[in-house]
Amino acid sequence: MESRVIEQTMYDYFKLVGKTAIVTGAGNGIGRGIAQVLAGLGANVVACDIEKDSVEKTVEEIISKGLNGVAVYCDVRKYEDIRNVIDVAVSTYGTVDILVNDAAGCGGGVTVDDITEEEWLRLIELNLNSVFRFTMSVLPIMRAKKSGKIVNISSGAGITGDFSDPHYAAAKGGVIALTKELAHELAKDHINVNSVAPGLVDTRMARIRPWEDEIADTLWYRVGQPEDIAYAVAYLASAAGEYCTGQVISPNGGAWMQ
Ligand SMILES: NC(=O)c1ccc[n+]([C@@H]2O[C@H](COP(=O)([O-])OP(=O)(O)OC[C@H]3O[C@@H](n4cnc5c(N)ncnc54)[C@H](O)[C@@H]3O)[C@@H](O)[C@H]2O)c1
Repeated sequence: MESRVIEQTMYDYFKLVGKTAIVTGAGNGIGRGIAQVLAGLGANVVACDIEKDSVEKTVEEIISKGLNGVAVYCDVRKYEDIRNVIDVAVSTYGTVDILVNDAAGCGGGVTVDDITEEEWLRLIELNLNSVFRFTMSVLPIMRAKKSGKIVNISSGAGITGDFSDPHYAAAKGGVIALTKELAHELAKDHINVNSVAPGLVDTRMARIRPWEDEIADTLWYRVGQPEDIAYAVAYLASAAGEYCTGQVISPNGGAWMQ
């Protein structure tokens, strides 16, 4: 009996029942894993992605487990699509409590020797400016109720740099800096802003290059799975993460330490 009370009390810190979470990039990979884990903790998940079929599949799986979710098409580069996602969240579930900015693209292996300005601007627009746009669009709702959780998915590339894709590293470094800045500015509105910077994770984005060397760099000697990242997001989005703001958590199997 006593242990059941203890377990229930602990669960209360992590559960997200009654909370509404928008997850961008929820059609595939890490975003899909985040949507599923947050829904599993009881959140109403508003899953959005530029790939309509993929995000509908994510939500079908959520609903098939008796959990709550709705799928919305969204190109995170477009304010009108972002506004539509927020309208769906509010009309379906009443508010937005959690925003997870996950949607992004990869650089394709260019270096400073061959990158074009057009390619630089393309990825900064998708991976950094979109995080600014989505965040600015949900802020009025979170500020009005003086509560909210924002989790931005960055990358180890934004911390340590890499041997290619300077635009990807710069955008992700920008996401980390924006996270810290917003944590300062939004504390007065009781909005937690944190970043999760994954190591190598088994998704199609990572599958475009060989992994062997990177796996050898991890202390766990394995590639990460989307859930490895989603559990960190769940902590930051829950009451358990109340005292955590302006932080970068790196589930990376020990590949680097900060
Ligand atoms: N996989 C890794 O090893 C790794 C490592 C570090 C960081 N990350 C980061 O994790 C996040 C998820 O990446 P992933 O590995 O799951 O990649 P992924 O390609 O599997 O998923 C990315 C999702 O974003 C969506 N997306 C792309 N452009 C969009 C747009 N304009 N509007 C809306 N949605 C859009 C895609 O359709 C896709 O569903 C990204 O922010 C990525 O930079 C991944």
